Amino acid sequence: MRMYDLIEKKKRGFALSSEELRFFVDGFTRGEIPDYQASALCMAICFNGMTPEECADLTEAMTDSGSRVDLSSLPHTADKHSTGGVGDLTSLITAPLAASLGLSVAKMSGRGLGHTGGTVDKLESIPGFRTALAKEEFLDQVRRIGVAVVGQTANLAPADKKLYAIRDVTATVDSIPLIASSIMSKKLAAGAESIVLDVKYGSGAFMKTADDARELARTMTAIGAAHGRHMAAFVTSMEFPLAPQIGNTLEVEEAVRILRGEKPRGWGIRTVAVRLAAEMLALSTGIASDDALRQAEESLASGRAYAKFLEWIAAQGGDISYIEEDRFERAPCSREVRLTRDGYFTAADTERIGLASCLCGAGRMKKEDQPDLTAGLVMQIAPSERVRAGQTAAVLYAASEEKLDAAEEMLRSSLVITDEPKETPPLIADVVR
Ligand code: URA
Repeated sequence: MRMYDLIEKKKRGFALSSEELRFFVDGFTRGEIPDYQASALCMAICFNGMTPEECADLTEAMTDSGSRVDLSSLPHTADKHSTGGVGDLTSLITAPLAASLGLSVAKMSGRGLGHTGGTVDKLESIPGFRTALAKEEFLDQVRRIGVAVVGQTANLAPADKKLYAIRDVTATVDSIPLIASSIMSKKLAAGAESIVLDVKYGSGAFMKTADDARELARTMTAIGAAHGRHMAAFVTSMEFPLAPQIGNTLEVEEAVRILRGEKPRGWGIRTVAVRLAAEMLALSTGIASDDALRQAEESLASGRAYAKFLEWIAAQGGDISYIEEDRFERAPCSREVRLTRDGYFTAADTERIGLASCLCGAGRMKKEDQPDLTAGLVMQIAPSERVRAGQTAAVLYAASEEKLDAAEEMLRSSLVITDEPKETPPLIADVVR
């Protein structure tokens, strides 16, 4: 087999066989196929797409490039994955909530990059919390308390890691088959039998429209189903940040607020987090979605989910007195950003809001960057709200005034205030099962 022939075949719009895709993935992972040929194939896939069989085969080959986590000794294993966003702290709520419902949540999460945050950074903002556990400790914790969340191990789908690095610099990230196989290779390797996806659409997401997000959702659920997993995918809005608090410590604080049952503040985070946990329960046990939702709401209202959260944080070494006594730290410099006109908060460039948080210091523009876990911003106006000139739109937190200057400029450019009200886009545009 020659890589040249595979590129030529895909360039002409033909489907690659399972053997050909495996030849590519194995050869590329071993360093026998050079980056330029892998890039050419990715570009041909961008233009000509892939059939569902090709997507499933490419994913399987990438999954097999590393080790698989064996969760077969655990009951009702369920995982969730979000395609990434701003104020998207669902895992901090959904993981303990799902565990409080009797599921086994053995989860591997990522770090933030670009304008989006990552669960591992958020968890590391809790003093003492360990995101690296040995395999046995990880599985044992899930067996004992139903939940553990760790950073992705280096050997989880290494082909994807290598391929993503190339896609990132060759304008080949935004291909639905490539995104779907990249995400699903890691999810399959992580081992859960039920997987619920949260595919984001809108100004803060990879997929700018609900239709594209729906197609990505269908592609990923089909890949999972082809590999015997119970699958569902929500298509949810990133037209606004999901939560008002953006930044690592700030998002942990927001999760705690919701787990304690405090009143939601006009953003979508509580709804999405609870629906995801309920869907994990429905997929794992076969009960109806409505029943699952009722159980999830009951667990949250009774404090069981919050108790599970504290148990989880303590099990991974986190200081729960820090949480129970609300000792959440904020960066030393702060600034209120005030509106200059009356109107309605009808739209946002959510990517820019995420970037404003990064400019405060909360994010990573390069992999090597070390985020300031206490930095970020708190939105004070909610989607669709009637607002007045002089009202505080957001409070920024950073280590220096210079950072605040840059973040303020970015945040101001992200807010759209209009004379007339406008309906906000649907928070949950679709559920693909
Ligand atoms: N996230 C991934 O893990 N892979 C992609 O290709 C895009 C987003």
